Amino acid sequence: MVRSLLAMLVAAGLVVAASTPHAATDALRVCADPDNLPFSAAAGSIRGLYVDVAELVAARLGVRAEYAWWPTLYGQRAVRNTLLADRCDVFFGLPDDKDFMGQKLARTVAFLDVGYVVAVPPTFAFTTLDDLKPVTVAVQFSSPPQLLLASRDGFRMVTFRRVEEAMDALTRGDAGAAFVWGPTGGYYNKHKLGGAWRLIPVAEPGLQWHVVAGVRKGDTTLKERIDGALGALGPDIRRLAEQYGFPLAVPAAALANPFAGRVDAVPLGRSVFNQHCSHCHAPDAQSPEPSRDLRRLKRRYGDRRQEVFYATVTGGRPAQGMPPWAQVLSGDEIWQIWTFLELIQAEP
Ligand code: HEC
Repeated sequence: MVRSLLAMLVAAGLVVAASTPHAATDALRVCADPDNLPFSAAAGSIRGLYVDVAELVAARLGVRAEYAWWPTLYGQRAVRNTLLADRCDVFFGLPDDKDFMGQKLARTVAFLDVGYVVAVPPTFAFTTLDDLKPVTVAVQFSSPPQLLLASRDGFRMVTFRRVEEAMDALTRGDAGAAFVWGPTGGYYNKHKLGGAWRLIPVAEPGLQWHVVAGVRKGDTTLKERIDGALGALGPDIRRLAEQYGFPLAVPAAALANPFAGRVDAVPLGRSVFNQHCSHCHAPDAQSPEPSRDLRRLKRRYGDRRQEVFYATVTGGRPAQGMPPWAQVLSGDEIWQIWTFLELIQAEP
């Protein structure tokens, strides 16, 4: 009787570990760069975000993490020499890009967003890159931000070899803003500059990425277990990212309009608008002055209009005479206004 029960459990895969005691299930073998803070470090008291995440994932899987250290300066080669050479089972910190060694790698769910950010004084009203035109912008030499600003008119730049030097230029007053790689700039800002600067992810194409862990293609069970762990660890990973000073995009939840598609919110929004905004933006937002005409947000910002609206209304653009409303209006009122404005957008 006992025997047949055991046989059933084995057949159902429930006692596999007990029946294969020598399978390497007691450690999660992790590949990481030995010298790449804030992401990972082989020595020192700060281990880096990817190592912290690996530890959390391993603990959730009930195993310990074991490290194979390898420099990642040449990303693909590092993956080939480590994960694909069976020196480890998982590589945290790969781009969520199916073209990145997609033949050989399976990607987990994304667990972090990274990208380029603008660092400005806390009172600086930043919504779009054009807001940087009046100031000198510190960038890293030959980085995507330098190439992007150089391809557009009207920007003044000063270049540095390292992100940290670009941040220091802000402190010295040699630049009014820095446009740099977020994790490095954020870590330096938090740990060396006392969090003096506000860092805002720049939502332009090609400047933001989702980060995943990679396993060997075919390691489906491991991938699924790591997916499960990462899913459950979301809030812990977010907290870690904040500890390291990583600039986080506005949380997706904050940008979801709770009144989307609800016509009953439109008259409410219109009324709040006419009470607080109409003396500058005209009743019902029908301003003849183009820079204040809020029917042009779709034409002007396309798919980013909701994000620009939310950032502008909550933070204001004090230098241009647009006051901040975060302390005056509730979140619901702001979204009701948006529900009304969305309805009256002129077609591009
Ligand atoms: C004291 C006058 C004033 C009030 C009150 C005001 N605004 Fe503005 N607002 C401005 C000015 C001026 C601009 C243009 C800023 C610029 O040129 O960048 C602006 C810009 C904006 C923009 C960005 C427009 C764009 O095309 O980039 C939005 C969105 C906006 N206001 C929404 C509101 C809402 C919603 C309210 C009410 C809650 C409001 N404003 C109240 C003066 C005001």
